[in-house]
Amino acid sequence: WRRGKGNANKGVMTKTQVDLLEGYEGKCVLTKKQMEGIIEDFLARMEEGLEREEQQLKMLPSFVEKMPCGKEEGEFLAIDLGGTNSRVVRLALKGGQVREMVAHEDPIPKELMVGTTKELFDFIARQVKTFLGKHNTLAQSGQGKGGKIPIGFCFSYPMKQTGLANGEIVNWNKGFDIKDTFGKDLVELLEGSLSEYKIQGKVFAMVNDTVGTLAAHKFIDQDTQLGVILGTGSNAAYIEGKRRITKLQGGETKREEDKMIVNIEWGNFKSSRLPYLEEDREVDERTPNKGKQHFEKMISGMYLGEMVRLACLRASAEGNLFGGSQKDKLQQAWTFPTSLVSRIDGLGPEKLDQVKKELSAALDIPRAEITHGCARFVSRLCQLVGDRSAALAATGVTAIYRYLMQSKQVSPNQRFVVAVDGGLFEHYPRYPERMQQTFISLLGKEQAKRVELVHSPDGSGIGTAVIAAATAR
Ligand code: GLC
Repeated sequence: WRRGKGNANKGVMTKTQVDLLEGYEGKCVLTKKQMEGIIEDFLARMEEGLEREEQQLKMLPSFVEKMPCGKEEGEFLAIDLGGTNSRVVRLALKGGQVREMVAHEDPIPKELMVGTTKELFDFIARQVKTFLGKHNTLAQSGQGKGGKIPIGFCFSYPMKQTGLANGEIVNWNKGFDIKDTFGKDLVELLEGSLSEYKIQGKVFAMVNDTVGTLAAHKFIDQDTQLGVILGTGSNAAYIEGKRRITKLQGGETKREEDKMIVNIEWGNFKSSRLPYLEEDREVDERTPNKGKQHFEKMISGMYLGEMVRLACLRASAEGNLFGGSQKDKLQQAWTFPTSLVSRIDGLGPEKLDQVKKELSAALDIPRAEITHGCARFVSRLCQLVGDRSAALAATGVTAIYRYLMQSKQVSPNQRFVVAVDGGLFEHYPRYPERMQQTFISLLGKEQAKRVELVHSPDGSGIGTAVIAAATAR
């Protein structure tokens, strides 16, 4: 990437740009030793989180104890509040299959992410009302207690639960910052808003999206061990022996075979061994949850674009990128979307003309000011940021793999299926392959083959319904 093509003066990067890239490369390309160090810290934090409340890794008990067996049945409504969209899904499970599924999704208006709890839940209730107006068979089926619509609620934020159908938020993230949600039961809030809009619903289960993704895939493949989200945010859930969740009251009296899904909340992992860039600190500064979710901010879709924007801004000021004048649009926070990072990375170093076109359109910079050198710089930068994200996500998965092997909860002969959902995994170029590279480097070729990454679309909707079905049964 250092060498220019054709006209050398137009094609090469400035010395400072090359130096900056070498700095990013030194951080973003992780060595095996570095990743092993991260795994060591990750495992220590997991153990602490299982023992005590309020640790860095929250290791949240989900109260999902009946593992999906594929026999769950019934018609359900799943309400899924994600990081960017809110979805309503009506589905029917029968004979180990999703027989019918109708979904509607709306983006969550930005002002609701920082408004009041009631506004947010009323927004969901209105969405459900409109949905049922169009697809009303569930309400007529009168399934569930007292003729109420059986609901599974997927809530993609950390929550403290004492049962399957209750829980309070621990903290918001992914740009949400609603002050008056704390201390309130989320299921009561949802049912309250629904009933104000004359929807008679009963929430059977409230689950995190990682828990839903795990459950949805276990419904069709019993060897599923992990649910991972790589989207706006990032997180993972796995199946734990209840005895090992020592902070859980009465856990010690449980039988060896008693299990519960645990939501790790890995986004909040931090360690001095993580490959921090100056841009990570700057991204953190620009978020409402400053100082939190370090791991997530290095991995997930919400933050990769902002990271690249900040690195470009530095290269512009210090290394004459885009002609050196700090471009207006580039100066505005959050104007470099991760979808652009993804497209540029996908184009690769061979299609720099198209990279220029993308940059010019997105950043309002005349094409003539974007030299081949600039395009090459941004192309390589995007690739490095994508590599680091995938390597860290795969390092997290490997840590959990090691944990489950060491604690003999998964046997060495068993398949290790990892159900993954989220836009980053789905759309970012070669993301699964990049993760696989890390598995090979950490586990060796043979063992790495055992880690099967499977895209599990709609995991949160289907999984929530599967869990609700197992409970309603
Ligand atoms: C954030 C949330 C977590 C969720 C993840 C993916 O990390 O804290 O609960 O699973 O985003 O949506």
